[in-house]
Amino acid sequence: MNARTTRTLAAALSLTAALAISGCSSSDSGSGSEAAKPAPTVSGAYMPEPVNDKMAGAFMVIKNDSKTADKLTGVTSPLSDDLQIHETKDQKMQQVPSMDVPAGGELKLERGGNHIMFMGLKNKPKVGDKITVELRFEKADPVKVELDVKERTYNAQNSNAH
Ligand code: CU
Repeated sequence: MNARTTRTLAAALSLTAALAISGCSSSDSGSGSEAAKPAPTVSGAYMPEPVNDKMAGAFMVIKNDSKTADKLTGVTSPLSDDLQIHETKDQKMQQVPSMDVPAGGELKLERGGNHIMFMGLKNKPKVGDKITVELRFEKADPVKVELDVKERTYNAQNSNAH
């Protein structure tokens, strides 16, 4: 095999690889189970300024545009070693192991409802601070989110009435 043949062969191989990659990413129609992996997006993430360093809540909307249902299974943050997923029932909150992020739908974390709870804060954030959290999902890759620390009374619902 001479050098020229080797080069031609290498070019042909890399072209095949490129075609395989683009062919994979363009087929998110659900024909292959890998291509249908959800990639959730997050909007309106905030934390009302906590009263003390014992606990804080976080709210956001997690959108799943894919055709595959997913679950929020955990949250981590440098601010606390214990982040929990809470639901609110009969005005009492309780921890749940996961929360559904429906296919073609969204999971709303809002005041008075589902939320993320920081148990024990390493410091007390102030209005204007940004808190990084990482959301973990059953299927999707982890998603990093920045929470805006807002006034204690801030409620995203007020600025987005329906
Ligand atoms: Cu809670």
